[in-house]
Amino acid sequence: MCGIVASVSTRNIVPILVQGLQRLEYRGYDSCGVAVHADGLKRARSTSRVAELQAQVSAEHLEGGTGIAHTRWATHGAPAVHNAHPHFSHGSGAGSNARPGKVALVHNGIIENHDELRAALQAKGYVFDSQTDTEVIVHLMDSLYDGDLFEALKAAVAQLRGAYAIAAFCKDEPHRVVGARAGSPLILGVGQDHSENFLASDAMALAGVTDQIVYLEEGDLVDIQLGKYWVFDRQHQRAAREVKTVHAHSGAAELGPYRHYMQKEIFEQPRAIADTLEGVEGIVPELFGDGAYRVFQDIDSVLILACGTSYYSGCAAKYWLESIAKIPTQVEVASEYRYRDSVPSPKTLVVTITQSGETADTLAALRHAQGLGMTQTLTICNVATSAMVRECKLAYITRAGVEIGVASTKAFTTQLAGLFLLTLALAQAKGRLSEEDEAAHLKAMRHLPAALQAVLALEPQVISWAEDFAKMENALFLGRGLHYPIALEGALKLKEISYIHAEAYPAGELKHGPLALVTSAMPVVTVAPNDALLEKLKSNMQEVRARGGVLYVLADADSHIDSSEGVHVIRMPEHYGALSPLLHVVPLQLLAYHTAVARGTDVDKPRNLAKSVTVE
Ligand code: F6R
Repeated sequence: MCGIVASVSTRNIVPILVQGLQRLEYRGYDSCGVAVHADGLKRARSTSRVAELQAQVSAEHLEGGTGIAHTRWATHGAPAVHNAHPHFSHGSGAGSNARPGKVALVHNGIIENHDELRAALQAKGYVFDSQTDTEVIVHLMDSLYDGDLFEALKAAVAQLRGAYAIAAFCKDEPHRVVGARAGSPLILGVGQDHSENFLASDAMALAGVTDQIVYLEEGDLVDIQLGKYWVFDRQHQRAAREVKTVHAHSGAAELGPYRHYMQKEIFEQPRAIADTLEGVEGIVPELFGDGAYRVFQDIDSVLILACGTSYYSGCAAKYWLESIAKIPTQVEVASEYRYRDSVPSPKTLVVTITQSGETADTLAALRHAQGLGMTQTLTICNVATSAMVRECKLAYITRAGVEIGVASTKAFTTQLAGLFLLTLALAQAKGRLSEEDEAAHLKAMRHLPAALQAVLALEPQVISWAEDFAKMENALFLGRGLHYPIALEGALKLKEISYIHAEAYPAGELKHGPLALVTSAMPVVTVAPNDALLEKLKSNMQEVRARGGVLYVLADADSHIDSSEGVHVIRMPEHYGALSPLLHVVPLQLLAYHTAVARGTDVDKPRNLAKSVTVE
């Protein structure tokens, strides 16, 4: 997704801005650019990688102390240089009334009323040279500018509808950058030597530059100058915002012995789960924050809201919450829930699940639920400083570490670990967890890192499956019960990074339609743990074989399924009961990864996708 870095400094800040963009590259982008104040507005833009932009700024000697930089993920207008940020205002009028452009601007988010603003600005003589919604903001600020850029920003945001994080500077005010956030994250970085200040969409962009971070709040406006800054709230009142010391994880960017971040992150899962469960000595509701016991006792149902992979972890948690904690649970795709008429209940615990904590749809769904009077909120989130954690009453912070590969892997398994803990904590608060069961579950959780390590050792077998899959254009994934969401996640991983069309079904649904697709060109991945549904699943597998379909079966240690003609079996090292989804998903992650590698796709930055989807 789009990224912003901006600064006011006494030194040439271009290398720092470009380095900041490099740190944000993993989020996915299709063009990038940087602009500085250098006796006027100067910029370089590229539809290639940030490395190419770097070469361009060196060749053109682009230098300056005040600047803004951006990585763009196209929404309005194709990935093209004229659509890349920063945008400059051209000024308006003609002849003796001509007024040269003054403002340079970068923007994350989507301006919903861009059509009407564009028409009004065109009527004033502004000429647009991009198809972006962003360009309306820069011309709007220019039209409102009367010697004070911050005043122009204030007046401009009052006319904007939609989501934005903005950073802008002006030709007439060389040592000033102004910014605003609403619906898209923006942070302020206080320079180490107090002479320079920064804005960025993520503290990670400033790793190694400053660790003094102010998390701007919804509606905040910010004015940064040399050695000074001011924050104003949405009512334009001066706001005191805490400066936090944040150790942004620059080290996470090292690939080590791995070929891609996704592979590294798959192999980090034993460590990520161990870190996520560190300090969990027993099951107590307070693991989720002060006051959790009372909340857990009060609620009588759970509503899970999430997107993508995080949604699938929620789908798995529903099985746990209903079978172990006996709490009715509903799981909804956040982008659907936020717009549909639903029946709210104040006794529902609203649980959001999000790796980034900044996903626009999930945040909007949370706010929608809160607006309906559902105030008991909890998030399972990987970023402690995110908007989601700030806006929920309770939280469990997963400790997956920074996830750079666009396709989520270690975030998913750590979410499952957090959700299993939540299930146990709710069961305990409701008096539905015996001491023996608690001890058995804790023992199984503590063994997870070792169990995951053993599953990772299956990689060579998965590679041989991937060689077959790389030649295919379609695949089906089957699972039942608790492992149906794992089949869904396996199919999502495969389609995201290998571009093979993959769909997942509850195995019992096969005969109600998808069986028509089964031929020898349709590999069928079957997640087959030794649970109560195994015999039913075996019948579903027969249905596939009888139609010439080729099965790739992830069998449990004790599933009694053997390889035969058209049936390829990988046996899991051990049978894992309720926590088995955390293990069964790993070979599916590896299958997607190695299939994508064999097909030569850009594994960490799959086409059209972005990390942390901060637009609707
Ligand atoms: C898929 C993937 C996405 C995210 C989704 C939600 O591999 O990564 O589907 O899971 O965009 O993101 P978060 O968890 O940050 O809210």
